[in-house]
Amino acid sequence: MEEIIKIERVKKRFGDKVVHREINLTVHKGEVLTLMGGSGTGKSVLLRSLIGLDRPDGGSIFFHDDDILKFDEDDLLPIRKRIAYVFQYGALFDSFTVFENLAYPLREHTNMGEAAIRKKVLATLERVGLRGNENLFPSEMSGGMQRRVGVARSIVMDPEVILYDEPTSGLDPFNTRQIVLMIEQLKSQGTTSILVTHDMPTIFRVSDRIAFLREGRIDTLGTRKEIQQSEDPDLVGFINGEKM
Ligand SMILES: Nc1ncnc2c1ncn2[C@@H]1O[C@H](COP(=O)(O)OP(=O)(O)OP(=O)(O)O)[C@@H](O)[C@H]1O
Ligand SMILES: [Mg+2]
Repeated sequence: MEEIIKIERVKKRFGDKVVHREINLTVHKGEVLTLMGGSGTGKSVLLRSLIGLDRPDGGSIFFHDDDILKFDEDDLLPIRKRIAYVFQYGALFDSFTVFENLAYPLREHTNMGEAAIRKKVLATLERVGLRGNENLFPSEMSGGMQRRVGVARSIVMDPEVILYDEPTSGLDPFNTRQIVLMIEQLKSQGTTSILVTHDMPTIFRVSDRIAFLREGRIDTLGTRKEIQQSEDPDLVGFINGEKM
C-alpha cells in the first residue's frame, strides 16, 4: 500500500497546554481516513499542520518523500495545491458567482486560458452535481449548497489529498448525503481524504480507517469494522456519547 502522508513523532503545545504529545500516523494513497476525538484533542490543529498553517514543535510530516516541516512558506505553496483544505463554512467570496469562485484558484495558480478555465469549472460543477448553478451568488444558495460549492472549489485544482474539517456539521440529511457522495466519488477517482467529523453515521459510512485521538496521541487506529467492534471503554464511551 502506497504511503502518501507519514506523520512521525509530531508534538505541539500552545504555551503550557500540550495538544499533541506524540502523533504517529500513516495515510495510504486513495483511502478515506477519519480523525475522531473529543473537542480540543487537536484534530483541526493536526489537519492544519499538514499544509503548514500550524507549525508543530517537533517531529516530521512526510508528504511523499518530503518532510514539509522543513519547508518555508514558499516551499509550501505547491504543497497547498496538491493538498486541499475544505474550510468549515465554505469560505466563498460573496461578491463572486459560483463560477468565479471556482475560477479564482485556476486564475491565481495556473496559466490556463479562459476557455480552458470555463471547461474545467463546468466539469467540476458537473462532478459534484452542481451544474446549472454557476451564475448564482453564494447569498442566493442554501447553506448546504454553499458548503458543496466550497468542496467544489477545493477540488478544482485536482488535489491528491483533501482535508475536510467537519464538512457536514449543521447540515440537513440531504446535504450531508451530498457531501458523503462527493467524498465517495472522489475516492473512486483515486483522491485521498482525511476527514474530521463528529457525525457517527458519516464516519461509519465513508471511512476506510479511523484514528481515535485521545490525550495527545492516536489512541486507537483501525478499520471501520475494527473500530465498530472495539471493546475499549474510552472508544466505546466516545462513540456512544457517554464520554468526551
Ligand atoms: N492558535 C492557537 N493558540 C492557542 N491555542 C490554540 C490555538 N489553536 C488551537 N489551540 C488549542 O489547541 C487545542 C486543540 O485545538 P483544535 O482546534 O485542534 O481542537 P479540535 O480537536 O479540532 O476540537 P473541536 O472538535 O472542538 O473542533 C485546543 O485546546 C485549542 O484551544
Ligand atoms: Mg476542530
